[in-house]
Amino acid sequence: MSATTNVCVVIPAAGMGERLGENKPKAFVNINNYSLLTLAIKQVLKNKRVGHIIVAIPKDFESEALAEIDRAMRDENKKIPVDIVEGGETRTDSVKNALLALDQLDEFVLVHDAARPFVPTSVFENVINELDKGAKAVIPVISVSDTIKEITENNKIKKTLDRSTLRAVQTPQGFAREVLSEIYSRSDLQPATDDAGLAELAGIEVSTVEGSVESFKITTQFDLENAINFFNKKEGKDGK
Ligand code: C5P
Repeated sequence: MSATTNVCVVIPAAGMGERLGENKPKAFVNINNYSLLTLAIKQVLKNKRVGHIIVAIPKDFESEALAEIDRAMRDENKKIPVDIVEGGETRTDSVKNALLALDQLDEFVLVHDAARPFVPTSVFENVINELDKGAKAVIPVISVSDTIKEITENNKIKKTLDRSTLRAVQTPQGFAREVLSEIYSRSDLQPATDDAGLAELAGIEVSTVEGSVESFKITTQFDLENAINFFNKKEGKDGK
C-alpha cells in the first residue's frame, strides 16, 4: 500500500494517575520538562502514515492539552488534525468517547496509552504493516522474563504457566476502523483490560507483532524514575 495517511491514533490520556501520586493526571506529569502526553505524541508524529490524532483528556484540561499537543507538533515539525475529547470514568469509556471523533479517512485506528512515552517508531511500523497485510486486530507483545503462576483466592499457587507461550501486551494496539467501532459499541463484550481483549471476546483473530522493552508503561514512582534515567541516557546518546 502507498504511504497514505490513513492511520488515526487514539490516545487515552484521561487517567488520574492515582498510583503515581503526583497530584495531577498522569499524562500531564513531566519528565525533564516534557509531559508524558507530549513525549507520546512526539513518537506518534514520527510515523508518516498517521494523519489524525484523537486525545481523550480529563475534564478542564483542554488548554493544557492544546499546549502540549502544540509543543509536540512544533518539536517534530509536523501539523496534522488533532481532536480533543473528554475522557470517561474508565479507560474503556475514554476510548469510546474518542471513537466518536473518528473521520471517514481513518482506515486504521491505533489505540495508544499516553502513559507509554518512548514507543520506538519500529513498533508503530510493525503494527501498521500487519494491518496493511489485512489483519483486523494487532497487538505488540514481548516475551516475559519472570515465571508467572496462577493463584487461588487464598493466595496459594494453583499452577505454573508455560512461560514460552506467554507474552506481555503493550500499545499501540491496531485495528481496522470498523472492527474497533463495532467492538466498542457492544456492551456485551465489556469489561476487558485492553482493547484487543474486546476483539477476542467478539471472536476476532488478534495478531501479534514484536513490541519493545522501551514501550514500558509508567504506573508507579519507580517507573517514573526509570523513565527519567532512560530519557537522560537517550538524550545523551542522541547528542542533544
Ligand atoms: O491507568 P493506566 O496506566 O492503566 O491507564 C492507561 C492509559 O489510559 C493512560 O494513558 C491513562 O491516561 C488512560 N486512561 C484514560 N481514562 C481513564 C483511565 C485511564 O484515558 N479513565
